[in-house]
Amino acid sequence: MSTSTIPTSRNEESLVTSHKGKLENKVAVITGGSSGIGLAIAKEFEAQGASIVVFGRNEKTAEIVRENLNDKALAVKGNVTNIADLERLYVQTKESFGKIDTLIVNAGIAQFLPIEAVDEEHFDSIFNINVKGAYFTIQQALPLLSEGATIVLIASAVTQIGLPGSSVYSATKAALRSLARTLSTELLPRGIRVNTLSPGPIDTPLFEKFDMPKEEVEKFGEWMIGQHPMKRFGSAEEMAKAALFLASSDSSYITGIELIADGGMTQL
Ligand SMILES: NC(=O)c1ccc[n+]([C@@H]2O[C@H](COP(=O)([O-])OP(=O)(O)OC[C@H]3O[C@@H](n4cnc5c(N)ncnc54)[C@H](OP(=O)(O)O)[C@@H]3O)[C@@H](O)[C@H]2O)c1
Repeated sequence: MSTSTIPTSRNEESLVTSHKGKLENKVAVITGGSSGIGLAIAKEFEAQGASIVVFGRNEKTAEIVRENLNDKALAVKGNVTNIADLERLYVQTKESFGKIDTLIVNAGIAQFLPIEAVDEEHFDSIFNINVKGAYFTIQQALPLLSEGATIVLIASAVTQIGLPGSSVYSATKAALRSLARTLSTELLPRGIRVNTLSPGPIDTPLFEKFDMPKEEVEKFGEWMIGQHPMKRFGSAEEMAKAALFLASSDSSYITGIELIADGGMTQL
């Protein structure tokens, strides 16, 4: 059979390299977009032509958006564990932009404890934000997602390894990786692609929020760098480039994958 008869959903025009941004006329919603990886994604996507909606629980979300993004960007303050807040996020997104073309499911927390020290509160708080929050972030967005939209779930390279002390956090990220596989099948009839981006250790405020003494966090960071093939943390900007690939049509034949952006940490 000649290859010209093999059906493809891409038209020839889209194969030509464009000098325009990769997200021109697109609307991107980024949860946890007021800090770290999410903020870097918001800036990168804006530079690529997208209209940006940032959702964050931080009191300063609106201020951060004003300082870092253009005046078209919308800031919505809320908590991903609260479905009413998510409904408000999407009502405001609809009012401002009418649709969503790419949804970055990024809001998350990390706390590390050995299994003996984990209590119900620790377990529930991390699962509530990282898993329940992500799940309903996607479910509530469905009516607004355009045909051919993309969803990127920010998991973690800990889906690939056993990192002592991370049992609850790692289980939440493994749940996201599974969710991306299932939803990629459920949403494919609408042309929606769902992928996971799993960062390695990235230099963000996440580590300052660890519920442990500063010296212990520093020791953990040094240990991590010592183990790492590149002997460094990644940057939020490096993650934004990887997210851009999954969010844009550059990855048009990719769905259901886990892109591990960890400088080789879990591969070498
Ligand atoms: N940094 C790393 O090494 C690394 C590695 C692998 C995966 N990740 C993942 O990458 C994602 C972003 O992390 P980051 O490193 O950029 O950390 P970060 O700087 O702490 O950013 C996390 C963002 O999520 C928001 N957030 C947390 N809980 C929320 C909630 N319940 N509702 C709404 N927003 C909430 C935070 O808001 P507040 O500031 O108000 O809490 C913050 O804006 C997380 O899912 C994390 O698990 C990070």
